[in-house]
Amino acid sequence: MKKFYEKDNITLFLGDCIEILNKATPESVDMIFADPPYMLSNGGITCQSGKVVSVNKAEWDKSKGLDEDFAFHKRWINACKRVLKPNGTIRISGTYHSIYVCGFALQKEGFAILNDICCFKPNVSPNMSCR
Ligand SMILES: C[S@@+](CC[C@H](N)C(=O)[O-])C[C@H]1O[C@@H](n2cnc3c(N)ncnc32)[C@H](O)[C@@H]1O
Repeated sequence: MKKFYEKDNITLFLGDCIEILNKATPESVDMIFADPPYMLSNGGITCQSGKVVSVNKAEWDKSKGLDEDFAFHKRWINACKRVLKPNGTIRISGTYHSIYVCGFALQKEGFAILNDICCFKPNVSPNMSCR
């Protein structure tokens, strides 16, 4: 487990989150914030600063199909569940493409979903619906 940054009582680790979480003490975490891959790298195009650019980010952002994507989300959410305190909380950010899969995985892992917080993004890519 590689320490990426350390100062005062803050440590950032670099690596696979599931491996790192599996080394943490069970029921020791108050709050988790996660920004998992949105699985949007599908070879398409998007608009950035008024220019047409590739939507591809990297391998980690490529969808492996709904079932495998769901299995991935369920794995890391399960690892989160082990370390969260019984009264702990988890916040996950996503897009409309990805967040419902995370929501279903949360429910499968026994979490109660209490709130959705929607961000209004005025500079969203204009080709969202490809029309
Ligand atoms: C939507 S991006 C988050 C970007 C981040 N919020 C930022 O501002 O840089 C998803 C991130 O998850 C990382 N990632 C994908 N699979 C992972 C895994 N198994 N363990 C840890 N990080 C992973 C990717 O490298 C990517 O940086």
